[in-house]
Amino acid sequence: MKHLLKLQDLTREDILSILNLADQLKFERNNGIHKEYLKGKKVGLIFQKSSTRTRVSFEAGIYELGGYGMFLSSNDLQIGRGEPVQDTARVLSRYLDGIMIRTFAQQEVEDLAKYGSIPVINGLTDYAHPCQVLADLMTIREYKGSFKGLKMAFVGDGNNMANSLIVGCLKLGMSFAIACPKGYEPDAEIMKWAKENGDFTITTSVDKALEAADAVYTDVWASMGMEKEKAEREKVFKKYQVNSENLKNAKEDVMVMHCLPAHRGEEITEEVFEAHAKEIFDEAENRLHAQKAVMVKLLK
Ligand code: CP
Ligand code: NVA
Repeated sequence: MKHLLKLQDLTREDILSILNLADQLKFERNNGIHKEYLKGKKVGLIFQKSSTRTRVSFEAGIYELGGYGMFLSSNDLQIGRGEPVQDTARVLSRYLDGIMIRTFAQQEVEDLAKYGSIPVINGLTDYAHPCQVLADLMTIREYKGSFKGLKMAFVGDGNNMANSLIVGCLKLGMSFAIACPKGYEPDAEIMKWAKENGDFTITTSVDKALEAADAVYTDVWASMGMEKEKAEREKVFKKYQVNSENLKNAKEDVMVMHCLPAHRGEEITEEVFEAHAKEIFDEAENRLHAQKAVMVKLLK
């Protein structure tokens, strides 16, 4: 494993090995054991979109590992003025030990890895959010003990979260059901892979997707970069909400997950969000541990 660009590039063993290391790093941190696994390593953190969790968990994580994280807003980088990613990659490779990037096009992340000579980590694109899903899987295992035979249900847009979650859950032996409106399905290639490689269903019925689910996941109706579609999407996604009524279809001990930020009253009700706040904020915390594990694997 040289980069973390998308979960398709990882084997089931790669994922489990990251999760095991993440558990270990969490244990060490909770017990006051601080090891500088990345002492002296410099990591560039490029952001072309807003972020709370990704930015802060990467910066805090790098600091805890003894490295140095450099926040690089694309507004300040020449990349924001049109310097090609191929050149940025080769320049940054001369200074840094690793790069995390949050941007729009997946191709940009792939190009950064292709033209640079240091590990690249995808901190979210329009296509994928692998760091989030590693934290999600870590959280599922904490709550449920294992993955095999569990059902994940996703409600809402077939977006970056859905794409990565499908791949991550199926690779670990979970089944996956998504309820989304027609025209808002996940990536076609990913769905093809999912149908051939696991127990995957897609439906327009939220009730059906939630049936006997062990975990229910939702995300915003309009992702970053889709601001212009917001009003239209509010109409299309109206019934794609996780609420106490449809959650009755899931298992009694269902966990409810959200990558955050959440829009209460849209994709999830206030009531359900607060009833499951423990899981949701454990999930947010696990971003820190999972990403530390990824960086140790790639940069050490
Ligand atoms: N879930 C997540 O990636 O959050 P941020 O957009 O705040 O980084
Ligand atoms: N789908 C959301 C996820 C945010 C973490 C977005 O891309 O804005």
